[in-house]
Amino acid sequence: MLSLLLVVSLAARGLAATAALPASYAIWAADSAISRGQGNGLNASGAPLVSYEHGELQWALRLLYEKTGNKTYFDYIQQGVDRVVTSNGTVIGGYGFTTDYQLDPIRTGPTFLYLYNVTGQQKYKTAADKYRQQLETHPRTTQGQFWHKLRYPNQGWLDGIYMGDVFYAQYTHDFQPSNTSAWNDIQAQFTLMYQNTLQNATSPPHLLYHGYDHSHTASWASPDRGHSPEVWDRALGWYMMALVDTLDIFPTSHPGHDALLSILRTLAPRVRDAADPSSGAWWLVITQPGRTGNYFESSGTAMFVYALLKGVRRGYLHDDGVVAAAKKAYRYMTNNWVVANADGTMNWLNTVQVGSLDGNGTFEYYTSVPTDVNDLKGLAAFALSSIEYERLR
Ligand SMILES: *[C@@H]1O[C@H](CO)[C@@H](O)[C@H](O)[C@H]1NC(C)=O
Ligand SMILES: *[C@@H]1O[C@H](CO)[C@@H](O)[C@H](O)[C@H]1NC(C)=O
Ligand SMILES: *[C@@H]1O[C@H](CO)[C@@H](O)[C@H](O)[C@H]1NC(C)=O
Ligand SMILES: *[C@@H]1O[C@H](CO)[C@@H](O)[C@H](O)[C@H]1NC(C)=O
Ligand SMILES: *[C@@H]1O[C@H](CO)[C@@H](O)[C@H](O)[C@H]1NC(C)=O
Ligand SMILES: *[C@@H]1O[C@H](CO)[C@@H](O)[C@H](O)[C@H]1NC(C)=O
Ligand SMILES: *[C@@H]1O[C@H](CO)[C@@H](O)[C@H](O)[C@H]1NC(C)=O
Repeated sequence: MLSLLLVVSLAARGLAATAALPASYAIWAADSAISRGQGNGLNASGAPLVSYEHGELQWALRLLYEKTGNKTYFDYIQQGVDRVVTSNGTVIGGYGFTTDYQLDPIRTGPTFLYLYNVTGQQKYKTAADKYRQQLETHPRTTQGQFWHKLRYPNQGWLDGIYMGDVFYAQYTHDFQPSNTSAWNDIQAQFTLMYQNTLQNATSPPHLLYHGYDHSHTASWASPDRGHSPEVWDRALGWYMMALVDTLDIFPTSHPGHDALLSILRTLAPRVRDAADPSSGAWWLVITQPGRTGNYFESSGTAMFVYALLKGVRRGYLHDDGVVAAAKKAYRYMTNNWVVANADGTMNWLNTVQVGSLDGNGTFEYYTSVPTDVNDLKGLAAFALSSIEYERLR
C-alpha cells in the first residue's frame, strides 16, 4: 500500500488545483463504476441485461474482493447476476441462445461459475449449463472456429476468444477436467484465430488482424487469407487478456497449455514494441501509427497493461522490458485518462465505443467511431490493469 500522500498536478487537465493520488486506482475505478450503477445487470431503462461488459467488470470486482475481503464487491456481483439469472436458473435479459448464437453474452458465464463455486446455489450451474449447451451446437467454420455470431457466417473475431473461451475453459476445468476433446477444442479456438489473423507481411509488427472470414466473402476479407485489413487495439487486447486468464485454468498436462503459452510469448514482445515510443500508449489502429485521425485509445492500452503484467507475474513471460513498457503505459493512463470528479468518483476517458466487422473494417471506419467517457469496456480494463500494477509494489 502507498503510505505517503503523493501529489499530482492536474493543471494540465484544466483543473485548477492539485489532488491527492488515491491509495488504489483499482478501488477508485471500481467504486466509481459501482456508484454510477455500471455493470449491474440492468440496461439504461432498468430492464435485465446480459452484457459482456458486465462480465468484464465482475471479473475485476471478484479480484478486488479476493484482495480486500470487502464484501461490497461480492454483493455487487451477485446482485447483478441475480437480475439476469432467475431462481430456477433461466437466463433473461434479451438474449436468445440458439436463435442468435452469439459469443458475447457468454462472457457473463465465468461469473455464474464463480458464484456457483462460492455459494453452491444450483441456479448458477443451471445458467452456466445453458451457455455450455449453446457451444455444443454453435455454428463453426469448416476448420472448427466458432462463428462470432450466427449473423456473421464463417467469421472469427479476436473478441470472441475472450467472450466465449475463458468460460469454455473454466466450465471444463470445473465439471469435465478430463474431457480431452473439450481441451483440444479450446486450444483450437485460440490457435485457429491466431493462424488466420496473424500478419504475415515481411515487416513488423506481426500482430493479429481484428478477424477473418473463412469463406473470404466479407467486403473486408483479404483475397489471399480472408483477414480484415487492420489491427484494432481492443480486439488484440481481448485476445491477450484471454490468453493470460485461460492459462491459469488450462491443465499443464495437456499440450494446449504450451500452445497458448507459445502464442503469448510470441505476441507479448511484439505488443511491447508496438507501443508509441514517446507516450508508451497504444494507437487505436495499431497498423497505422501517427496517421491523421488515429489516437491513443484507452481500453486497448489498459488491456495490454493487464495482460503483460499478469503474464510476467504468473511466470508465463520473462520480463524482458515488458514490465517497463506496461509501467510507462500505466503512467500515461493515470496522467491522461483519469479525471477526479467533485463527488469523489473518477472519470475514465478516451475509450472507443465500438469496433465491429459489421462495416468495411477500414482505418476510416475505426477512427470514425466516437469515444466515450466512462465506457465500461475501458473502465473495467483500467481496474484490471490497476490490480496488476498495484501488485508490483
Ligand atoms: C432495456 O431493455 C428493454 C427490454 O429488452 C428494452 O425494451 C429497452 O428499450 C431497453 N432500454 C435501453 C435504454 O436499451
Ligand atoms: C468496502 O467498499 C465500499 C465501497 O468502496 C466502502 O464504502 C466501504 O467502506 C468498504 N468497507 C471496508 C470495510 O473497507
Ligand atoms: C423458470 O422460471 C421462469 C419464470 O421466472 C419460467 O418462465 C420458466 O418456465 C421456468 N423454467 C423452468 C424450467 O422451470
Ligand atoms: C470451487 O473451486 C475450487 C478450486 O478450484 C474447487 O476445489 C471446488 O471444488 C469448487 N467448488 C464448486 C462447488 O465447484
Ligand atoms: C466433452 O467435450 C466435448 C467437446 O466440447 C463435448 O462434445 C462432450 O459432450 C464432452 N463430454 C462429456 C462427457 O461431457
Ligand atoms: C502471406 O500469406 C499469403 C497466403 O498464404 C501468401 O500468398 C503471401 O505470400 C504471404 N506473404 C508473405 C510475405 O509471406
Ligand atoms: C468505410 O466506412 C466508413 C464509415 O464507417 C466510411 O467513412 C468510409 O468511406 C468507408 N470506406 C470505404 C472504402 O468504403
